[in-house]
Amino acid sequence: MDTLPQVVIVELGSQVTRLIERTLRELGVRSAILSPQQAAKWFKKFPVKVVILSGGPASVYEWGAPQPPRGCLSLRRPDGKPVSVLGICYGMQWIARELGGRVESVATKREYGSAEIAGIQTNKIFEGVGDSDTHVWMSHGDSVTKLPTGFSSLAKTRDGAFAAMTNEAGTIYGVQFHPEVNETACGRKLLANFVFKIAGCDRDWEASSMVASIRKTVAAAMRGKKAVIGFSGGVDSTTLTALIAPSLGKRLRAITIDAGHLRQGEMEEIRRHAKAAGVELRVVKAAPRFVAAIGKTIDAENKRAIFRRMYAAVFCQEAKRFGASVVIQGTLAPDQIESGRTGGAVIKTHHNVGLDFGRFGQLHPIDHLFKYEVRELGRELGLPESVWKRQPFPGPGLFIRVVGAPVTKECLGIVREADAMVREILERRRLYDGLSQLVVGLVGVNTVGVKGDARAYGHMILVRAVKTIDFMTAKGVVFPEPVVEEIKSSLVKLKGIVRVVFDPTDKPPATTELE
Ligand code: XMP
Repeated sequence: MDTLPQVVIVELGSQVTRLIERTLRELGVRSAILSPQQAAKWFKKFPVKVVILSGGPASVYEWGAPQPPRGCLSLRRPDGKPVSVLGICYGMQWIARELGGRVESVATKREYGSAEIAGIQTNKIFEGVGDSDTHVWMSHGDSVTKLPTGFSSLAKTRDGAFAAMTNEAGTIYGVQFHPEVNETACGRKLLANFVFKIAGCDRDWEASSMVASIRKTVAAAMRGKKAVIGFSGGVDSTTLTALIAPSLGKRLRAITIDAGHLRQGEMEEIRRHAKAAGVELRVVKAAPRFVAAIGKTIDAENKRAIFRRMYAAVFCQEAKRFGASVVIQGTLAPDQIESGRTGGAVIKTHHNVGLDFGRFGQLHPIDHLFKYEVRELGRELGLPESVWKRQPFPGPGLFIRVVGAPVTKECLGIVREADAMVREILERRRLYDGLSQLVVGLVGVNTVGVKGDARAYGHMILVRAVKTIDFMTAKGVVFPEPVVEEIKSSLVKLKGIVRVVFDPTDKPPATTELE
């Protein structure tokens, strides 16, 4: 079993957190970006060497300001040594305040954009940083104005604010500037010094060795057996299939169940992705059965339960027909926070969506990876952009995008067309790629409208888009006026639709999906 990342980046609301992950990956070090809630669970279960607290727009004094997990400044590694912590911008301010220092909003010390640091002290974190490398990128309204007891200043900005600090033991660091952005000349060196020289991380990210190790694991577990893989055409199943298809050859079959839950053009895309992954695809057409069964309830959890039960039954039937003894799944590392890890075993009980595959053995070859790593592997393997850039789409698909009304073929048709329309508009306006997920749903309340000169009763279409790192929390997107105009005027042309609503609610309190 491959290991989990040595570095956890706690996401505290910064726009540039992904750059920390990317810089570390370029340095050959794996990291996991987690929300504070996820990180808290992670620290209870898995050892780490480094915790990085990201930047963020909040003020540490603000009500509701993001809080890193309790105790994250005093974590221990399995060998008893302290876990090294680096706070960046908001992260540094949070550390300072947490340990008894002072953070203030000082008008003269606010900096946005380029800045210079001075008075750099001799310390491992600045090793190899020359006098000409003092150009940094800052974006902060608050500053640390008093260091916590036992901390010393490692650098200041030109106007005297603390730009970098550390404790006596050299286990906790803070930098007011952003080392992860290109504009910070010494940023990459500083992060390298931190993870290698201070925290003693190993180099553990290299796409080619990851590919080789996953293939080796699968080959060892399979030994001549036949396997099936559920194929949604999404980034996880496509990348995993592309990883293992060459070695399994004819012993692997990809299975897609067309339950009537797919979006417009999705089946064609699934076929294209299966071809790119180099696997034989079996498509099981079962829409009427699924729609009839799921349409009997409007309760979201019941719909999910029916979908899962029927999906698993059809899947097992197909696995049996193929003569497979193993089901391969693209379970990812975050799923393990909820479910627990089973040590060194590669074949274990399924835990991510609760499907019951009965007597079949199960293999989860990428359960040590995060989604952004899988995307990177997909890119490395030369899969098309449509694979590794693909937004997530829920297993039950459009079945959970018809809410408050029974799922029917007609409702599915409307929501499918609405989704395609909104997506086309956002793609043409180059907004789609910047979204983490687009959700277009049919809300089954009859609302009154006027179509032509007649009074009309119909449903409404809800449009929702979110941006997020890990889907534990998400920011609702507010579209610019011309986009709203175009979406609403297009959607009301659909039969039975008299109203369009936009839902920019954040998660929490909302969720990404409507139900
Ligand atoms: P929520 O709505 O919980 O969704 O914020 C977070 C992410 O999970 C997806 N999602 C699902 N995926 N089966 C799935 O396979 C489901 O029943 C399901 N419900 C939500 C959602 O699309 C988002 O990416």
